[in-house]
Amino acid sequence: MFKEVKSNIYWVGSIDWNRRLFDELIPLPHGTSYNSYIIKGSEKTALIDTVDPTRKTDLVDNLDKLNVNHINYLVVNHAEQDHSGSIPAILELFPETQIVTDGKCKELLMSLLRSPEERFKVIKDHEVLSLGDKTLEFIFAPWVHWPETMLTYAREDRILFSCDLFGSHLATSTIMGADERTLYFEAKRYYAEIMMPYRTLIKSYIEKLDTLKIDIIAPGHGPLHIPTGFILNAYKDWVSEEIRNTVVIPYVSMHGSTEKMVEFLAEALTKRNIDVHLFSMTKTDIGDFAMALVDTATVVFGTPTVLYGAHPQIIYAAYVANLLKPKVKFASIIGSYGWGGKTIDQITGMFTRIKPELLAPVLVKGFPDDAAFKSLEQLADNILEKHKESGIVA
Ligand code: FEO
Repeated sequence: MFKEVKSNIYWVGSIDWNRRLFDELIPLPHGTSYNSYIIKGSEKTALIDTVDPTRKTDLVDNLDKLNVNHINYLVVNHAEQDHSGSIPAILELFPETQIVTDGKCKELLMSLLRSPEERFKVIKDHEVLSLGDKTLEFIFAPWVHWPETMLTYAREDRILFSCDLFGSHLATSTIMGADERTLYFEAKRYYAEIMMPYRTLIKSYIEKLDTLKIDIIAPGHGPLHIPTGFILNAYKDWVSEEIRNTVVIPYVSMHGSTEKMVEFLAEALTKRNIDVHLFSMTKTDIGDFAMALVDTATVVFGTPTVLYGAHPQIIYAAYVANLLKPKVKFASIIGSYGWGGKTIDQITGMFTRIKPELLAPVLVKGFPDDAAFKSLEQLADNILEKHKESGIVA
């Protein structure tokens, strides 16, 4: 299946309906797509990115159906294998094809795929490439999310080929544009899992993109964005400094004590008109947890004590939160222990990339008693006060 994007520009990618895990890490509850695009200029033809190597037959079939028998340029915006993995197949089928990319990407492709050096045409930032009646401009955008990433802008057609940036892991037959409600959640999940650590850089790239006229954003995963205002505004919100009056509580409870504390705190916060998101970390989809971190003001880790410290799933939650670098400003820890432990040091010691202010933890010996519930009320008061001081509550 191929789809026309604009005159002589086609989506020739692959929809992977059944993939459920990416990078052996990221859940894909709704599959994904690997988007590749062919641009037939009046003089030259360019392919923008390829597809995951497991789906190369789809790409080759689509090119065949469009009678593509010559590709001058294979533009590579990103070296990760879900986009680059079918490069060897394309180079073999089209011996005349040159890989067009930046120097860093060339280096990565030569090591990851052993791509032959003589097939590369290395371009500079903002260099242009003429296909005759169509012109491609290459805009370097390192670290979204690898060091070599770039964007390709088709000037006359006003299309931005953005690879991972603005993407979503969503398998859908409506690749030319899904409904905004669905797309919002899938794009936010994708941003949270993959782009959030590079928030500041992305903000600067979006400011640069505002100087271009872009009618279509054609990402490397999920539906295209036509028009572009919806996704650009969503990204502007996510990368902004704005945080919400929300507390995210990842927790595990082995015998019910921590769960009782979590439920009590959740109710106390709700009474104070603070939104609460609970994630039982032995059951939750880590993508949902990541998405909740995007603009939350506060995270409270709820953990029982295993041997001498926090439950391994809460260690994992703290590790993920630190890795993804959300805007979170405040953190706390609640939970139960039997005979002591190093829970607080363990969790706070993991905050190397984020610097939330630690609000007084509430750790209780055994099942929570009246004094514990009083401390949880105080924690809820403390959170509300901090949210007020931060200007997110009137
Ligand atoms: Fe879709 Fe970073 O690859």
